[in-house]
Amino acid sequence: MATDLDALQAEFQVAVQQASDLAALDQVRVAYLGKKGRVKALMKGMGKLPPDQRASWGQQVNRLRGTVQQALDDRKQTLEAARQQAALDAGWLDPTLTAGTRPTGRLHPITRVLAQTIEYFTGLGYAVASGPEIEDAWHNFDALNIPKDHPARDVWDTFYTTDGAIPRTHTSSVQIRTLETREPPLRIIAPGRCFRHETIDATHGAFFNQTEGLYIDRDVTLGHLKATLEGFVQHLFGRTLKTRFRPAFYPFVEPGLDLDISCIFCDGKGCSICKKTGWIEVIPCGLVHPNVIRATGHDPDEWKGFAFGMGFDRLVMLRYQIDDIRRLYDGQLALVHGV
Ligand code: DAH
Repeated sequence: MATDLDALQAEFQVAVQQASDLAALDQVRVAYLGKKGRVKALMKGMGKLPPDQRASWGQQVNRLRGTVQQALDDRKQTLEAARQQAALDAGWLDPTLTAGTRPTGRLHPITRVLAQTIEYFTGLGYAVASGPEIEDAWHNFDALNIPKDHPARDVWDTFYTTDGAIPRTHTSSVQIRTLETREPPLRIIAPGRCFRHETIDATHGAFFNQTEGLYIDRDVTLGHLKATLEGFVQHLFGRTLKTRFRPAFYPFVEPGLDLDISCIFCDGKGCSICKKTGWIEVIPCGLVHPNVIRATGHDPDEWKGFAFGMGFDRLVMLRYQIDDIRRLYDGQLALVHGV
């Protein structure tokens, strides 16, 4: 019996090598491995053997089947490559070749949240404004009611260039540039990059994105601010979140407020991310300080407004539940988070 196997294998090797194209190779496959093929026939012959030899016979036939399959695969690869090469040599294109797949690209989460933000605010009549990333002290501080030597300036860990210019510490500088160049009433949002001398960790980077908002008109109240920003967080997080406003101090607004949303990780129950409070701070805001209106050449008795300036990276991290700000910039997002 064993000689049957050897003979069959030898015959098979010859047949495989003689198969000169894929169609011929397929015939060899059917002849040996097909339902009525020769390997099957060997298996069927097992019944005629004495029971004590059957197991070892089965093993040998199985091994043979593996060898046959491997040889067929190898030969197929060789023939396929030869066919492609011949086609290339002949100078024609084979449209039956399958196209290679490419990984699908996706928009960066910051880009996506920014698009949603712009969609919401332009829907309310806001324009998108921008300002320079390298600022002067007037636009970054003075006109925003943060005088020199005032301790409030220390809140912003400012970089200075060698000639004394300031990589802007916040997008609030765009409020000033807009008020200096445009006549109220006006509504703008200003997304942009900001820079601070921070120790880099999971929640701080030396540069980061903010989006500023400014609404100036004749009769503006906290009611307008509240409705606008509550609508925004609901637009972004896609469900009815609970919100609350807390008093806060920012020199360019009076009163100053922080908008909190109920923690999206624990639904307000209290977890490590919201430090057991059930709330997450998302948008600092307030009514524009009269000094800001005045500094930019307008009459604070006539013009009122509200402003807000949100840490945009943080918002994106909350929206996509990304736990480390560095992930937003290291090019590994898709691998790590699949967002
Ligand atoms: N510019 C502030 C900061 O970077 C954030 C801010 C607070 C902006 C209140 C505002 C505002 O427009 O009204 O910390």
